[in-house]
Amino acid sequence: EKGTYPHFMLKEIDEQPFVIRNIIQKYQNEDGTVHLDDDIRSAMKSSDRIYVIAAGTSYHAGLVGKQLIEKIAQRPVEVHIASEFLYNMPLLSENPLFIFISQSGETADLRGVLVDVKKKGYRALTITNVPGSTLSREADFTLHTYGGPEIAVASTKAYTAQMAVFTLLAVDTAKASGIELDFDPIKELGIVANAMEILCDQKDRFEQIARDYLSVTRNCFFIGRAADYFVCLEGALKLKEISYIQAEGFAGGELKHGTIALIEDGTPVIAIATQEHVNLSIRGNVKEVAARGANPCIISMEGLESEGDAFVLPKVHELLTSLVTVIPLQLISYYAALHRGCDVDKPRNLAKSVTVE
Ligand code: F6R
Repeated sequence: EKGTYPHFMLKEIDEQPFVIRNIIQKYQNEDGTVHLDDDIRSAMKSSDRIYVIAAGTSYHAGLVGKQLIEKIAQRPVEVHIASEFLYNMPLLSENPLFIFISQSGETADLRGVLVDVKKKGYRALTITNVPGSTLSREADFTLHTYGGPEIAVASTKAYTAQMAVFTLLAVDTAKASGIELDFDPIKELGIVANAMEILCDQKDRFEQIARDYLSVTRNCFFIGRAADYFVCLEGALKLKEISYIQAEGFAGGELKHGTIALIEDGTPVIAIATQEHVNLSIRGNVKEVAARGANPCIISMEGLESEGDAFVLPKVHELLTSLVTVIPLQLISYYAALHRGCDVDKPRNLAKSVTVE
């Protein structure tokens, strides 16, 4: 039930801080440490390469998940689009572990890969919001994202929940491998949940950004570098699927290799700047598009802000920024769709769970 909310999507965006706190609670030991299932732990520890398989928004969570596992647990990870993997399989390592990420647990493209890799004798872990689902039943292990039912077609809380679970998986694998962490993951995820709440309380600001930048445009670009690039892909997907504005996410440095030709007078470019080591370069990219007439909207983070930024996010750990940055992008997409009279919860041509190949 959506209660007093006009749409499930808005309700589900608002639920994100609670989902993160719920995940912390479910995976935390009494002494405040993280410990996942022993079988998952040893599967992660004994694999020499992890292959993440997913589609759509879950694929975007996988890109962030790769970074979390590589940076925290120091294990190599590849992320693949499910529908491509089956027909264009890369050369696999000797002892792979497959991770299937799926909100619904029913996506046919993923199931095709799962059946195939199980046949080959490889182990599979499903990260899903629906533990009884097909992908959960058919994999060797399941990690539950505890997001509660997601009704809106556009995925929101499932995405942040998947990244939170990836964080804990990375932390647990690091611990099992004797890697010392220089941060407390539970504390940092708590800070993320608080930051999400602050953002959800500022909906008017994001509604105004949607009005200022997106009310008449035909297209919109999202640019970012490093982790911000991944969230740009998600921001663009959200915007196009519910508002039907043509939107694309690009790595800031890639624009000059072609895409910048699309910039016209007034083209909205939403730039994300939460990563210290690329802050100067992304701001340089903003200048490049602005010089060609774009209307840039910079979303930065405390400590990295500059005059003229449209919004400054509360500071969170640099590996966890995507969980927070996506909230304004979800809200901006929501309001852009609302202002254009679109059916926010049930966009045209789409189904919540894609059970055909
Ligand atoms: C986007 C969206 C889709 C799904 C994709 C995978 O908002 O909802 O892109 O993310 O169809 O679905 P799951 O995660 O259920 O496998």
